[in-house]
Amino acid sequence: MTKRQEKIAEKWWKNAVIYQIYPKSFNDTNGDGIGDIAGIIEKIPYLKTLGVDGLWISPLYLSPQVDNGYDITDYRVIDPMFGTNEDMYDLIKLAHAAGIKIIMDFVANHTSDQAFWFQESRKSKNNFFSDFYIWQDAKPDGSEPNNWGSNFGGSAWTFDEMRQQYYLHYYAAEQPDLNWENEIVREYIYDMMRFWKSKGVDGWRMDVITSISKDLSFPDNVKNLTTSNQQNGPRMHEFIHEMNRQVLAPCEMMSVGESPAAKASDAPSLVSPSRQELDMIFTFEHMHIDRKPGDVNGRWALQKRDLVSLKRILSDWQLALRDNGWNALYFENHDRARVISRWGNDTTYRYASATAFATILHGLQGTPYIYQGEEIGMVNADYELSEYDDIELHGNYEQYVVQQQTISHDAFMQAAYKVSRDHARTPMQWSDDKHAGFSDGHPWLKVNLRFPEINVAKDLASKQSIFAYYQKLIQLRKSSDLLLEGSYELLLPDDDNLFIYKRSWQGETWLIVANFSEEMHSFPLATACSEIILTNSDRQDLSGQLKPYEAFIAKL
Ligand code: NOJ
Repeated sequence: MTKRQEKIAEKWWKNAVIYQIYPKSFNDTNGDGIGDIAGIIEKIPYLKTLGVDGLWISPLYLSPQVDNGYDITDYRVIDPMFGTNEDMYDLIKLAHAAGIKIIMDFVANHTSDQAFWFQESRKSKNNFFSDFYIWQDAKPDGSEPNNWGSNFGGSAWTFDEMRQQYYLHYYAAEQPDLNWENEIVREYIYDMMRFWKSKGVDGWRMDVITSISKDLSFPDNVKNLTTSNQQNGPRMHEFIHEMNRQVLAPCEMMSVGESPAAKASDAPSLVSPSRQELDMIFTFEHMHIDRKPGDVNGRWALQKRDLVSLKRILSDWQLALRDNGWNALYFENHDRARVISRWGNDTTYRYASATAFATILHGLQGTPYIYQGEEIGMVNADYELSEYDDIELHGNYEQYVVQQQTISHDAFMQAAYKVSRDHARTPMQWSDDKHAGFSDGHPWLKVNLRFPEINVAKDLASKQSIFAYYQKLIQLRKSSDLLLEGSYELLLPDDDNLFIYKRSWQGETWLIVANFSEEMHSFPLATACSEIILTNSDRQDLSGQLKPYEAFIAKL
């Protein structure tokens, strides 16, 4: 066995590229305007052609869809709008037959308020389910237990008339937080995970897993009302470790946890193999390079993206997890805008900037995640406020624009055009047919108006196919020990146009290069390079300047 084969046998996900599907917006086969499981099955050949090894599928479980499925009523039941449990089992089998693993989305911090557990819990303080959620008495003056805020705007506490107490919800009032202190809750969750293992599921993406433990003294939060109190609670590591011992390790399930507050220095405590917690985490750190730090308007206070910070953050993560964990690499997901609209150029340099971001991400050590549509360079959709669907956007608008008046309507909308979560959630653009070939019915969310120009069919037929570039990148990763194992070194850390780093392995060094500006730039290492391995331009050799958003991988 070569080292590569050993590595792959040990942990398949280290050599994998994972594709995220947002099922509601992927492919609708029954004309109800909502994507479905049959639609995913239909596209397995497409995914196979792209070359991905695993699918992370956002929640498909029974849900009232207040937060598009991140509010679950029953973890073991597929929502009829997506199909049946049998359909899901078929998808798992067919994906496996195509050599593709299935990673389900696991929302462990909260359920829907419609869940049986919550409906029982609210009935009284002394029934079996009473302690399944986090209940607190009102203060003597009737006010909320503390000043914690919800991520979707307003308070994190809602008073329940039936139980005569407040319950905690870090997200919508319809998403009550589970009480992980309760052993039975944990046991039920582990059991649910075993259930999906028995159906063939290969791993879990864990929604805000770092929020599951709460500070039970419920102190007032003096700074940012939302996030600072919500992460890395006192028993977080203990709970995740227990879940690892109970389920992840014995069931051999891969895990990638969402960890909004993690810095590179925190990462090993969650993903170092010796910790027996998670395989990978999704950091948010690099996603904040265009956010004004400490601004009262949170994610809606934007500034120009700072390439020097992006390089520093990605480099910190590369170094922190070198031989001590593994990186989850991403620029897009269902909560993020389209990277080329946000940080690149989605008009003149759409092909070049999409492939430049891809080159930089896929050249790093770790497991790259591609979000549906990223592989054809899908772009943001600038809609009217009322055309956006997202609960976060509307909740935050109410809080910051209407109630607190800390940001004007126009400024909020300018920020929304950059970072709204709905940019990623518009229907997948398959063709220039009606509704972009996504559905024969009326899509649940308006299709991006640029679909006649940007769609799968057109991209595949184009000489400048972003999909084809991704195929090459994916194949390169699969055949290269250097990309799997190589060390990492950032060059020119202070240059705010060029992102250049080295990967080295067993005497060989590759240079990964991208120009993230719209100007030409000279390439300081041209003479040192011997061979171009992959390029997004027509470059034949290394002479001359780097064109706008030009990227390549070259041997040194
Ligand atoms: C993170 C998920 O990615 C997001 O879509 C969701 O709204 C929140 N967690 C709450 O579940």
